[in-house]
Amino acid sequence: MNNYLIENLPEYFKIYKKSIKNPKKFWDKIADENFVWYQRWSKVVDYDMHEAKIKWFKGAKLNITKNCIDRHLAERGHKNAIIWEPNNPDEPTQYITYNELYDRVGKMANVLRSQGIEKGDRVCIYLPMIPELAICMLACARIGAIHSVIFAGFSASAVASRVNDCEAKLLICSDGSYRGSKVLNLKSIIDEALEKTPSVQHVLVVKRTHNEVNMKEGRDLWLQPLYDAAPIENVPQIMDAEDPLFILYTSGSTGKPKGMLHTCAGYMVYSAYTFKNVFNYKENDIYWCTADIGWITGHSYILYGPLANGATTVIFEGVPTYPQPDRFWEVIEKHKVTQFYTAPTAIRSLAKESSDWVEKHDLSSLRVIGSVGEPINDEAWHWYNDHVGKKKCPIVDTWWQTETGGIMIAPVPFVTPTKPTYATLPLPGIQPVLMDEKRNEITGNQTDGSLCIRFPWPGIARTIWGDHERYKQTYFSAFPGKYFTGDGALRDEVGYYRITGRMDDVIIVSGHNLGTAPIEDSIGLHPAVAESAIVGYPHEVKGNALYGYIILKDTGESRDRENLKKEINLLISDTIGPIAKLDKIQFVQALPKTRSGKIMRRILRKIAEGDFSNFGDTSTLLNPEVIEDIKNNRIG
Ligand code: WT7
Repeated sequence: MNNYLIENLPEYFKIYKKSIKNPKKFWDKIADENFVWYQRWSKVVDYDMHEAKIKWFKGAKLNITKNCIDRHLAERGHKNAIIWEPNNPDEPTQYITYNELYDRVGKMANVLRSQGIEKGDRVCIYLPMIPELAICMLACARIGAIHSVIFAGFSASAVASRVNDCEAKLLICSDGSYRGSKVLNLKSIIDEALEKTPSVQHVLVVKRTHNEVNMKEGRDLWLQPLYDAAPIENVPQIMDAEDPLFILYTSGSTGKPKGMLHTCAGYMVYSAYTFKNVFNYKENDIYWCTADIGWITGHSYILYGPLANGATTVIFEGVPTYPQPDRFWEVIEKHKVTQFYTAPTAIRSLAKESSDWVEKHDLSSLRVIGSVGEPINDEAWHWYNDHVGKKKCPIVDTWWQTETGGIMIAPVPFVTPTKPTYATLPLPGIQPVLMDEKRNEITGNQTDGSLCIRFPWPGIARTIWGDHERYKQTYFSAFPGKYFTGDGALRDEVGYYRITGRMDDVIIVSGHNLGTAPIEDSIGLHPAVAESAIVGYPHEVKGNALYGYIILKDTGESRDRENLKKEINLLISDTIGPIAKLDKIQFVQALPKTRSGKIMRRILRKIAEGDFSNFGDTSTLLNPEVIEDIKNNRIG
């Protein structure tokens, strides 16, 4: 089982070549040899890249939790599946073995069934990074319910729009969450969100922080008594390969979040295969990914990928700076972590602290260190390499997306030589292509273009929940017959890829994917605002920060500007979440627009960066005169 580790560079090239020549044969063998199935597939892949219809392992029957839990019990029952490290280092760590995980998921699955949850029902989960989060997700998968985890930093209205979009029947939340020295009342956010969510019948509440909460009669139930009363034995639901496993929302270029739908078999095969190879996972490793499970990184590389490999995965509730800025290094030392996977924004913020914080810990257990979520700049790469990896651990810079389900371009550690700021080479089965503005494929190296993928891979999201047309439009229309990633990339002289950033209206702030449209919609709710345009500008720690250009209505002109700025940011916090707050706000008279009314964001971006040198072609502008005024009043 799980003997698919690539051992050396010639082998990588050999496997890669084979995987491209005959992807069906390649994935057939991996799926066949490394997973447990109730029934094999009749066809490996069925696809139409024009209609955006993709099916993997058609006809197969499985349950992902059997692969992530049950099959490990015989040999690894006493091995830790999860090591849970609480926010407060004085609280005891929880070590959850595979045997215990089996019991806890079985009980939770029975709780869900007792609440009338059936195969295909949607369950939204709004929980902090506590074991219950993982257990609830697995319990959903066990009974075939579709989980949709909503990051527990989202505001009430962001929660409501997601719950309504997928028409969740049940919501699971906690009383509160710990974040460093703060306690956040999560239940009150849910109470507000659920004022306008008719589909939700019940709310299960996990006790974590013991703060006071309102329990709505007939709707809200404490989880604990139900859980205590539930039996362990639970027969997993037999799922079709293409049955939905989960929905995860991501921002797009309209205000409505996109519910990316992942399905059972392909997602399982892809997350497990990539986990093993990108992290060089070996049997007794202690693997730690610091992402929140509320994002795809947590789904694929805290939960499903590691557990499908029978790994030990660390779940960390806290923040890198609490109680002190060495918490990450302390946890690595404490649990003898062998693989550490984090985000460039975290690396940059910790690199600003004195290096004594990291030097005082023994990090010699580390073998592989990883980066995800945004391009890692040269300085951060070197700091990570020098201080954390001690120049001995390969850095796996992993490029992928919520939509791809798993890592697409990344070095295979100890196999692919790394290169700072480069995600390097595609994993087996992945065929990146660069496209030029005329939609032609760019062949050859030392070039750049729009990054597309040619052939489907098992982990690709199958649709946007309830809106297949939007899925097709967003990903398969710009370059017909190919999946368009939305990213730009360059390919160096040896074929290594470097991701240069988003080409659309998505801005990555501290590794969070934010669409400009939802932020602009939220600002538009302010009675004094006529119109706004949001752009990103480079930020030392966050990678990008948000710069807002805002036009006031006549009635807003007399208002105090500083108060307005505060109100606008509060509004953004309330409608989306604090992560989307603007760092700089400039009130303007007008925005540069094309004759067709489209805002010229390119120019606004350059002004925000303070680069007035070359605005490119402004001849298509309707109102070129506004640029001078915007430049003169730029917030530095
Ligand atoms: C976007 C996807 C992948 C899981 C977390 C984010 C950017 C991601 C890298 C990387 C450069 C990266 C891309 C991508 N991105 N990883 N290693 N180097 N850029 O998932 O929220 O769906 O965001 O994150 O722009 O399209 P996501």
